[in-house]
Amino acid sequence: MNFECIDTIIKNHHGEPGSMISILEDIQDRYHYLPKEALRMVARKTGISLVDIYGVATFYKAFSLQPRGKHLISVCLGTACHVRSAPAIVEEFTRQLGIGPGETTEDKDFTLETVNCLGACALGPIVKVDGCYFSNVKRSDVSRIIQKAKSGIENASMESDSKDFPISVCCPHCGHDLMDEKHPIEGYPSISLEISFNGTRGWGKFSGLSGSHLVEFEHPASPEVQLKFYCPHCRAELIGNSNCMDCGQPMAALKIPGGSVLLVCSQWGCMNRFLCLNGMDSSVETNTKSLSTGN
Ligand code: FES
Repeated sequence: MNFECIDTIIKNHHGEPGSMISILEDIQDRYHYLPKEALRMVARKTGISLVDIYGVATFYKAFSLQPRGKHLISVCLGTACHVRSAPAIVEEFTRQLGIGPGETTEDKDFTLETVNCLGACALGPIVKVDGCYFSNVKRSDVSRIIQKAKSGIENASMESDSKDFPISVCCPHCGHDLMDEKHPIEGYPSISLEISFNGTRGWGKFSGLSGSHLVEFEHPASPEVQLKFYCPHCRAELIGNSNCMDCGQPMAALKIPGGSVLLVCSQWGCMNRFLCLNGMDSSVETNTKSLSTGN
């Protein structure tokens, strides 16, 4: 395997905050996984320990240390999708691709995996392919989805399929629903949190669309100010264990019933979002801080 591009990838991200994650993202884009030798090269050239690099690589579900196909197909097997025949969809992908969940086709074109709830239960069964979400998938849609992936999902006519879909989140500590139907943003219930910064507290409403960055705050913050997010019901701080892939700041963690997690960057002006599939509950349940102890 040729690793000449690793030098260029590292130079492209030199000095950026959170550059390690960006470097790993580019390596994964290039090879469809993180080869061991590439990670060793990153350690040698950046001076970051291999242990720290592996820590990042294994924390994010988006990264894989095992070879993956050019196209990653994730079928939701959460309860709502399961009862709407998601197992039959997995079966159909298996029949058409000749691989089971967790396997990659011999030509390295496709990897098939199953995931827990993606937070869009009302639209299930949900299938995610190369970052694009297909809703209300039926067995008869499987061949069309495979063809779309082969022809380049970005260029395909997406019809009713979309990268954004309405999600529903709850507090990882008290389990209370965080969706606010009375304050819709972009036509869907918003995610309602309490926000604090520099001694100011107020409400914050975030778009409930998976890929949207729209937010409304009671007290607008200055650029790059660090925010803290709290559950408006139990008042626990919603802090996760990971940092933003774009700006390197800590991310708040909101639970999606079924096991996935929505991470939201705590830096005003960034507000990056990241949907982690298949459970990172430990990252959200070990970080409870009372509202009374922090601003
Ligand atoms: S169970 Fe599939 S999106 Fe919720």
